[in-house]
Amino acid sequence: MNKGPIGIFDSGIGGTSIWREINKVLPYESTIYLADSRNAPYGEKSKEQILQLSIKNVEFLLQKGCKLIVVACNTATTNAIKELRASYSVPLIGIEPAIKPAALNSKTKTVGVLATKGTLSSALFNNTSEMHASGIKVLDQVGTGLVEQIEKGEINTSKTKELLRNYLDPMLSQGMDQLVLGCTHYPYLLPLIKEILPENIKIIDSGEGVARHTKNVLQLNDLLSGSDGESSSHQFFTNGDVEVLKFFLRDVSVPYSAQFLNF
Ligand code: DGL
Repeated sequence: MNKGPIGIFDSGIGGTSIWREINKVLPYESTIYLADSRNAPYGEKSKEQILQLSIKNVEFLLQKGCKLIVVACNTATTNAIKELRASYSVPLIGIEPAIKPAALNSKTKTVGVLATKGTLSSALFNNTSEMHASGIKVLDQVGTGLVEQIEKGEINTSKTKELLRNYLDPMLSQGMDQLVLGCTHYPYLLPLIKEILPENIKIIDSGEGVARHTKNVLQLNDLLSGSDGESSSHQFFTNGDVEVLKFFLRDVSVPYSAQFLNF
């Protein structure tokens, strides 16, 4: 047993979509969430820049005593998790676009992946696609501008909707029947995405799977906090706008603290 917190980081507030899944599956675990919003979007940065930012985030979470770290960012995972695992002994959980279930489910043999430039150009993503989607047409689409809109809290605006239409319509006309959300910010766009896509298009994201995997890894390493009724605590740190972070957490029912931190 280990009562230490789970550390979670993202380039911004997107990874709170993963925090939600983790809190659902592991309600007795304490968490520390780090939003590096000042440096968002990671998706437009080089692999080396993404690695350096990821190291800074991991160091912060380790200093806070985290027993396991979830890289709640597809871009950081696909560009840096190998190097992070080679440098740190703490268990590191990553997130990648869920291409495998999408390929297995697809009847039209055509799958759309909406993700950042950094994710779609990474070796890890391309290897995974080759391995799990042979015989499947994978339509890669960079979601340019979407992370910025979400970081500003501009979810339900005509600009965000127009960007989404520009990305989704061409994939629809090419026969996509599965859409993979390959960025942890995008689940916050689900209401808009559902307005645009016909009902028969399946939307897949990796959040729930990451939470289940996190539980398994804690179990295997004897790191679960135990469920003896002691309350868990949740701390959120951002180097961006704390009000935007709180806006995204407005429906969270467990007690938490959210603060600005100049890191
Ligand atoms: N949430 C990050 C991801 O999953 C966004 C990346 C970015 O900052 O561009 O890819």
